[in-house]
Amino acid sequence: MFPIHRPRRIRKNEIIRRMVRETSLSPDDFIYPLFVTYGKNVRKEIKSMPGCFQESVDRIVKHAKEVHSLGIPSVLLFGIPEHKDEIGSSAYDPHGVVQKAIRAIKDKIPGLYVITDVCMCEYTSHGHCGIIEDGDVKNDPTLELLAKEAVSHAKAGADMVAPSDMMDGRVGAIRAALDEEGFSEVPIMSYAAKYASAFYGPFREAAESTPQFGDRRSYQMDPANRREALKEVALDIEEGADIIMVKPAMTYLDVISDVKDAFDVPVAAYNVSGEYSLIKAASKLGWIDESRAMMEVLTSIKRAGADLILTYFAKDAAKILNK
Ligand code: PBG
Repeated sequence: MFPIHRPRRIRKNEIIRRMVRETSLSPDDFIYPLFVTYGKNVRKEIKSMPGCFQESVDRIVKHAKEVHSLGIPSVLLFGIPEHKDEIGSSAYDPHGVVQKAIRAIKDKIPGLYVITDVCMCEYTSHGHCGIIEDGDVKNDPTLELLAKEAVSHAKAGADMVAPSDMMDGRVGAIRAALDEEGFSEVPIMSYAAKYASAFYGPFREAAESTPQFGDRRSYQMDPANRREALKEVALDIEEGADIIMVKPAMTYLDVISDVKDAFDVPVAAYNVSGEYSLIKAASKLGWIDESRAMMEVLTSIKRAGADLILTYFAKDAAKILNK
C-alpha cells in the first residue's frame, strides 16, 4: 500500500516550512568578539580571519557602534597589549587596552553589553594562560592574577567577565574577589568545557598569544572526552558561574547537547576562529556558498542547545536576519 505518511507534505513551500521550523536565530543570540590594541587610529585586518581586525580604542568604539546598530546586544573584548611580561601585568593595569576600551564603549554606547575575556595568554611573554614554574603553568598562583584581572575589568565598567584560562578553581576565586570589591552583581560566564583545539590557530595570530613552548594540553580539555565536560560544568556552576560555555562549537555539538540537557543555566557556545576561517577560505576559493554555510552552522549550534553564540559571523548573520 502507498504510504500514509508523507513527511514531504509539510515541506511543500517556504510558508509551511517557516511554520514548522523548530529552530530560529536572532541577533539576540549573538556575542561579537573584538580585538583591542594600543595606539591611535589603528585598524589592522587579521590575515587568517578576513573581516576581523585588531583595533585601537578609538576605532573599537566606532566598530562597537556598528555592532550595536545591527541589533547585536553584546561584545566580547580581547586585549593585545603593548607590553608583555612573565606575569602578564598589563592584564590588570587600570590603563590597559581592555580597561580603556570598556570605559570608552560604556561611555559612548551604554546600551551595548560589554563582556571581557579574562585570561593571561594575551599578556604573558611566554603566551601561556598562567604563571610558569618548572616548565608548567602553576594553577593556584595564577588564580590571584585572574581575580585581579576580573576586578580591574569590573572597575572599568565591564557588564560581565568570561574566564577562558581553564585553571581549576578560577570561577570561585573570581567570584570571591568580585564580591569582596563590591561587584556582586557582575555575572561570570565561564569557558567551562574548553578543549585543546587546533581550531584556535587563527585566533592566536589575531591575539598574538601563541605559546612560546609546549601547548595547552595540561589545562585545556582532551577533545576525546565527553563525560568530563559535565564534570567541568558542574564544578563551575558550584563555584558560581552564571552562564557556562562550550568551546569550540561545531566539532562539539554533542557536548553542547549534553550540557543543555544536564543543567539549567544558560549555555553559550564559541564558534571559534578556525571554524570561521574554514568557511571564509572555502568561500574565497568559490567552493562553498558562504552565507548558507554560515547560517547552517549557526542554526546547528542553536539546535544543539546553545542559548548564546559567540561568533565572528555575528554581523554578517545579523544583516541577513534583519532583512
Ligand atoms: C584565550 C582564548 C583563546 C580563545 C578564546 N580565548 C585561545 C586559546 O585558548 O588558545 C580562542 C578563540 C578563537 O579561536 O576564536 N585563552
